[in-house]
Amino acid sequence: MKAFDVVVIGGGPGGYIAAIRAAQLGLSTACIDEWKGADGKPALGGTCTNVGCIPSKALLQSSENYEQAGRHFAEHGVKVKGLELDLAQMMRRKDKVVKSNNDGIVYLFRKNKIAFFHGRGSFVKPNEIRVGEETLQAKHVIVATGSKPRALPGAQFDEKLILSNTGALALGEVPKRLGVIGAGIIGLETGSVWRRLGAEVTILEALPAFLGIADEAIAKEAAKVFARQGLKIEMGVKINSVENHKNVKVQYTASDTSSKTLECERLMVSIGRMPNTEGLNAAAVGLKIDERGFIVVDEDCRTSLEKVWAIGDVVRGPMLAHKAEEEGVVVAERIAGQKPHLDLNTIPSVIYTSPEIAWVGKSEQQLKAEGVEYRAGMFPFSANARARALGDTSGLVKVLAHAKTDEILGVHIMGPYAGELIAEAVVAMEFRASAEDIGMICHAHPSLAEALKDAALGVDQRSLNI
Ligand code: FAD
Ligand code: NAI
Repeated sequence: MKAFDVVVIGGGPGGYIAAIRAAQLGLSTACIDEWKGADGKPALGGTCTNVGCIPSKALLQSSENYEQAGRHFAEHGVKVKGLELDLAQMMRRKDKVVKSNNDGIVYLFRKNKIAFFHGRGSFVKPNEIRVGEETLQAKHVIVATGSKPRALPGAQFDEKLILSNTGALALGEVPKRLGVIGAGIIGLETGSVWRRLGAEVTILEALPAFLGIADEAIAKEAAKVFARQGLKIEMGVKINSVENHKNVKVQYTASDTSSKTLECERLMVSIGRMPNTEGLNAAAVGLKIDERGFIVVDEDCRTSLEKVWAIGDVVRGPMLAHKAEEEGVVVAERIAGQKPHLDLNTIPSVIYTSPEIAWVGKSEQQLKAEGVEYRAGMFPFSANARARALGDTSGLVKVLAHAKTDEILGVHIMGPYAGELIAEAVVAMEFRASAEDIGMICHAHPSLAEALKDAALGVDQRSLNI
C-alpha cells in the first residue's frame, strides 16, 4: 500500500491546486482523477479545463473575433472581404487551448513531485482510497470531485440533439435554430457563441426576472443589450415536454399562460449543475451528504469525517473555478498547520458575454433586504474615453458603499473587460477600502479603470466626468 500525507480525489481546479499547494508545503501528495480525453488518456483539469471555463472562453473569443470582423471592423475603417467561418478550425484551436492547459497541469504535477493516479477514487476507510488495483493510505484526504450538468426531467442528454455544456462546446456545424433552457451563465455565454456564429438562439427561462444573481441595474441593462444583439430570451416559462426525433420540439407555457412550441435543430439544457459524489462510496464510510447532494462541510471545508476535507463544486457556495482553487489552497495550508482564511463574499463572479458582466460583494437588492444603509455611485462607459476609443461603450460601473463608514460593500460592472476590472474592486474589498479610497487613487488615462474611479467618486456625488 502506498502512503501519502495528502490524497486528493479529483483533478479539477480545486483538486489540482490543492495538490500543488500541499506539495509546496512539503507534504507528500497524490492526486486521483478519472477524466479521459478524446484519446482515452488522462486529461487533468476537470470540468473547468475540459468542458467548462477554458473551451467556452476559447470559443467566446473566436466567435467574438468573427462578429467583430463581420459587423464592427468597418466602423473602424477596416474592410473585410470574403469573411468566412471555418468552424472546424475554430474547434481545433479550442481543443489545442484545452490540451495545452491539460499538459500544463501534468507539468506542474511533475515539477511539484505529485503522484498522479488515473481512475476513480473510492473510500475503503476514511484514510484509505482505492483507485484501480491500488490502495492509497492518506493522513488527510481532500475530496474535490466537482459537479455535473443537471438534466431536464424527460429530456436526457444525448449530446447530439439535447446538449449539455459538453455537446454545446463541440458542435460540428452551426445549428439554424438553437434552443436553450435556462438563462443562467452557461445559457448566456454559450448562447452568445452560437448566436455570433449565425444561429437563431432562443432562451427559455423559468424565473420571471432576468439574471437575478446580478445587481438589478446591471441585469436591466444586460437584458436590453442581449436583446439588441439578437438573443431571444423568454422569461417566466414552464417547460411541459421535450420531444426529439430529427429536430427538437419544446412545448411550454409562456408567462402569459399561452401554450407555445419552440422547434430547433439543437437544444442546450443549462439549468444548473449537481454535485458529483458518484462512486466515492461515501455512505459506507459515513461521509455526510446533504439533501441536495453536496458534501457537508464547515466554514474551513472540514467534512463529517476527521481529516477528510471537501472543496469546490461538491460543497456549498458558488460553483466557480477560482472559488474551488482558493478552497484548495486554504485546506492544504490548514493541513500544514497554518491558519488561512477565505471570505466567500469577496469571490468575484464574471459572465464572459460581450460586454462582460462582473461583480463582487453585495448587490443593491441584497443590501436593501438586509436593511444595510448604503450609498451608490454609478458611471456609464459611454462617458469613458477609453471605451469610446474602443468603440464599446455599453454598460456601467456601480459602486455600493456603507452610508456611514463609506466601506465598499459591492461593485458591479458591465462593460468591456469587466472581468479584468473587477480585480481592483476585489483588492479594495479585501483591504476594506472605502469608496473614497478608490476615488483618491490615480488611474491611468485613458483607461477603462477610470470608470471605476468615477463610480467610486459618484458615491459622494463627485464624479469628475459626468
Ligand atoms: P471539477 O472541475 O468538476 O473537477 C472534478 C474532477 O474530479 C473531474 O475531473 C472529475 O472527473 C473528477 N472526479 C469526480 N469523481 C471522481 C472520483 N470518484 N475519482 C476520481 N476522479 C473523480 N467557472 C469559473 O470560475 N469561470 C468560468 O469561466 C467558468 N466557465 C464555465 C463554463 C462551463 C460551460 C461550465 C460547465 C462551468 C464553468 N465554470 C466556470 C465552473 C467551473 O468549471 C467549476 O466551478 C469548476 O470546474 C469546479 O472545480 P472542481 O475542482 O470543484 O470540480
Ligand atoms: P445557472 O444556475 O447559472 O443558471 C441556470 C438557470 O436555469 C437559472 O436561471 C434557472 O432559473 C434556470 N432554470 C432552472 N430550471 C429551469 C427549468 N426547468 N426551465 C427553465 N429554466 C430553468 O446554471 P448554468 O448556466 O447551468 O451554469 C452552472 C454553473 O456553472 C453556474 O451557476 C456557474 O456557477 C458555473 N459557470 C460559471 C461561469 C463563469 O464563471 N463565467 C460560466 C458557466 C458556468
